[in-house]
Amino acid sequence: MKKILLLGSGELGKEFVIAVKRLGHTVVACDSYAGAPAMQVADECRVFSMLDGEALERVVRDVQPDIIVPEVESIRTEKLYEFEGEGIQVVPSARAVNFTMNRKAIRELAHTELGLRTAEYRYATSLEELQQAADALGYPLIVKPLMSSSGHGQSKVDNAAGVAAAWAKAQTGARGDIQEVIVEKFVPFDYEITLLTVTQKGGPTLFCAPIGHVQKGGDYRESFQPRVMRPELMEEARRMAGKVTEALTGAGIWGVEFFVSEKEGVIFNELSPRPHDTGMVTLAGTQNLNEFELHARAVLGLPIPQIEQYRQGVSAVILSSVESDCPDYEGVERVCATPRTDLRIFGKPVAHVGRRMGVVVCWDELDADQEVLRRSCVELAGQVRVK
Ligand SMILES: Nc1ncnc2c1ncn2[C@@H]1O[C@H](COP(=O)(O)OP(=O)(O)OP(=O)(O)O)[C@@H](O)[C@H]1O
Ligand SMILES: [Mg+2]
Repeated sequence: MKKILLLGSGELGKEFVIAVKRLGHTVVACDSYAGAPAMQVADECRVFSMLDGEALERVVRDVQPDIIVPEVESIRTEKLYEFEGEGIQVVPSARAVNFTMNRKAIRELAHTELGLRTAEYRYATSLEELQQAADALGYPLIVKPLMSSSGHGQSKVDNAAGVAAAWAKAQTGARGDIQEVIVEKFVPFDYEITLLTVTQKGGPTLFCAPIGHVQKGGDYRESFQPRVMRPELMEEARRMAGKVTEALTGAGIWGVEFFVSEKEGVIFNELSPRPHDTGMVTLAGTQNLNEFELHARAVLGLPIPQIEQYRQGVSAVILSSVESDCPDYEGVERVCATPRTDLRIFGKPVAHVGRRMGVVVCWDELDADQEVLRRSCVELAGQVRVK
């Protein structure tokens, strides 16, 4: 049996632990606070700052894991190269984790080296450079810190008057002390998707049906699967996802994000070398294996004969509108009383305004009306109130 060190213990980590425990392995879950969702189902836990390289090293020496599975980006990721060099499996690979946590590194790989289509972009290390880059690209634009996630520090800029505010926001929303930002031309896409991609140790790269999603304030609100696409566009997305995951190396599931425009085609945005939050829709039983089970198998080197789409599904997030250090939930009965519907309350020990506390999932036959299913799922999620 393997010993897995999970770095990050949020809701995605929790479902991953459940999948791994069902296969009989041991998990030590880590995060910066006690009682995190994945800790509630793991064998053991450790509470420390994963950004602290020495603390991370101490935990690795103490636990002696066979496999290190990062669940978040807030980790001293350079250390992972060392651990990998010593023979510990890093998921999917130290290279993948290090490249994907920095927008410049992944953009240079995807666009410059691999030739994948992306939004037009520039970098800027000062407000003056940002102004020049903005003038060169033209408006509207999106400004993002090189290191950030969930939309932190990100802004849309419609004209020159908004550039200074975008620079300031990027500085406060960045993780770490890098000042540099990426500035991208706004892509007027028709829709965006996550293509869950599974790379295996001893088998071909597999793809899940595309997941459509709706983002608000940099965070996903709703996702649905399958997002029907023209076959040529789907092929193109698969080709690009195959290429970038191959270049990053390693086995596991990846959430590869694309913008899709009927006119312009498929545009690569970014990717996560781990389960994706929009992939929680697979908890609706849309596939033979959900994204966490796929990750567990790929990480453990177990075969995945195929990924089969059983039905369509929707996920809609439950957000807190209050602060609470003892969150309780209203409206769960209503969700449970609805056919073809389920929910996950993540069990976060503290609620903040806007914090994602759970998810409602709904499903139906593949040929059912997706609009109706999406509306009802979002409506049900809105009725679950955190108190
Ligand atoms: N160039 C762009 N043109 C149009 N929309 C964009 C662009 N870049 C980002 N967005 C919108 O903002 C969302 C978040 O951007 P992105 O995925 O780059 O940031 P993130 O902070 O890593 O988000 P997350 O961690 O939630 O995936 C995208 O899903 C998309 O809806
Ligand atoms: Mg994203």
